[in-house]
Amino acid sequence: MSAAAFGTSDFIVVANRLPVDVEKAPDGTLIWKESPGGLVTALKPILSARNGAWVGWPGAPDVGDGPIDGEDMLLVPVKLSAQEVEEHYEGFSNGSLWPLYHDVIVKPEYHREWWNTYVEVNRRFAEETARVAAEGATVWVQDYQLQLVPKMLRMLRPDVKIGFFLHIPFPPVELFMQMPWRREIIEGILGADLVGFHLPGGAQNFLYLANKLAGYSTSKSSIGVRSKFGVVTVGFRSVRVGAFPISIDSAELAATARLPETRKRARTLRKELGDPEKIMLGVDRLDYTKGIDVRLRAIGELYQEGRLDPERHIFVQLATPSRERVESYRAMRDDIELQVGRINGNFGRIGRPAIHYIHRPVPRRELLAFFAASDVMLVTPLRDGMNLVAKEYIACRTDSSGALVLSEFTGAAAELRQAYQCNPHDLEGVKNAIDEAVHQDPEDGRRRIRAMRRQVLQFDVDRWARSFLQTLAGTVDETRA
Ligand code: ADP
Ligand code: G6P
Repeated sequence: MSAAAFGTSDFIVVANRLPVDVEKAPDGTLIWKESPGGLVTALKPILSARNGAWVGWPGAPDVGDGPIDGEDMLLVPVKLSAQEVEEHYEGFSNGSLWPLYHDVIVKPEYHREWWNTYVEVNRRFAEETARVAAEGATVWVQDYQLQLVPKMLRMLRPDVKIGFFLHIPFPPVELFMQMPWRREIIEGILGADLVGFHLPGGAQNFLYLANKLAGYSTSKSSIGVRSKFGVVTVGFRSVRVGAFPISIDSAELAATARLPETRKRARTLRKELGDPEKIMLGVDRLDYTKGIDVRLRAIGELYQEGRLDPERHIFVQLATPSRERVESYRAMRDDIELQVGRINGNFGRIGRPAIHYIHRPVPRRELLAFFAASDVMLVTPLRDGMNLVAKEYIACRTDSSGALVLSEFTGAAAELRQAYQCNPHDLEGVKNAIDEAVHQDPEDGRRRIRAMRRQVLQFDVDRWARSFLQTLAGTVDETRA
């Protein structure tokens, strides 16, 4: 730890990943790349604007010796061994918590050694944060990988203000009860002064468990969106619980989508795709929660039934590789690639596939050109905390054209009411939603997109962060009074 970084940061984000990932080149040099996922997309502009510190894992084992002064933030790497990555990240975080919190789409596994390493790694994050935090700093802990950090940090540094935000769904109470270390997790989160979820339902579930599992007294009235916070009384402290739906840097995205070079690239993309009548687009991390298989099945059947024409209606799926060492992710990749091959075998022709599938992250500018070039966006998760992709597509439709097919099981569905919403478990329903979106009346489509644009532009990521941080700043804490 450099002396400059020691105890000097007033505002700190703590997340499992740093906003950049490090990769070791064959010659041993380190290459830094933007890391994947919605959490980083949302928090990077917030932290850059506040010149804070970001404590996180650099995305590879045994990397991270001391803080790095980034352009607009201090990066504080937490070094994890290969075994810790396997047991904390791939194991407990993504083999136990991720499937449990996403409606057990795949079966969660519970192993004591994974849990022990989760505790150990959470402790390391808390210690690292305690070292960089200035007296009275604000610390914002993020997501399911670090649910024990709030309590551990409070024990080390009772002077700091602690917020915790869960970026994924908080599960129904009956499912959460499967977790062998359920009480420890609830107690860990309750170390925060303010606990945030995307939706009031998740906040309500948490409040119920704080009472039933941990025995704390809790407020009874229902929780609103950015309002009517719940309260858990933990000893002399009041922990507030609220719903703060996350968002995107909408104005920046819209401005970039409007740039002549983005529009030009969008036109070129259409040409490269053979100037089809309609382009459908999917953009996701390759994750079993995203329902990529659902949309492929729907499109395959629509081609088969002649409701879509593979010559005129093509589908582009951009899929970022994700968690590739976890077995359920490997199996899903095989399944999706089999489906893509089968549909192209049945409906494509030489030089003219019906499905274009890219298994690589796409640079940000290029991604926005894809959003601008596509007529129908397909967002069909089986469960998703929010889904920023849906909001990004809407922000990029600056001429109000386009259509969004959106699963009811995303957090975004609560805000984007004018989308073609569907139940991803109902294949006929998904097919009908896609069919309607592809063949929509242009004026009806513009009305829908305009309404959703108003929502996305008004409730942007800055507003999300401000509403959370202002509530945190106002947190009543009798122990400090
Ligand atoms: P999650 O956080 O589960 O990955 P979100 O939809 O909330 O899902 O956020 C994903 C973020 O990653 C978005 O900002 C999206 O633009 C970006 N992203 C997803 N897939 C790709 C891709 N193939 N190439 C580049 N960026 C991607
Ligand atoms: C989601 C999670 C984040 C996570 C991201 C990418 O957005 O909420 O916590 O960082 O996915 O996943 P990864 O496993 O690559 O960090």
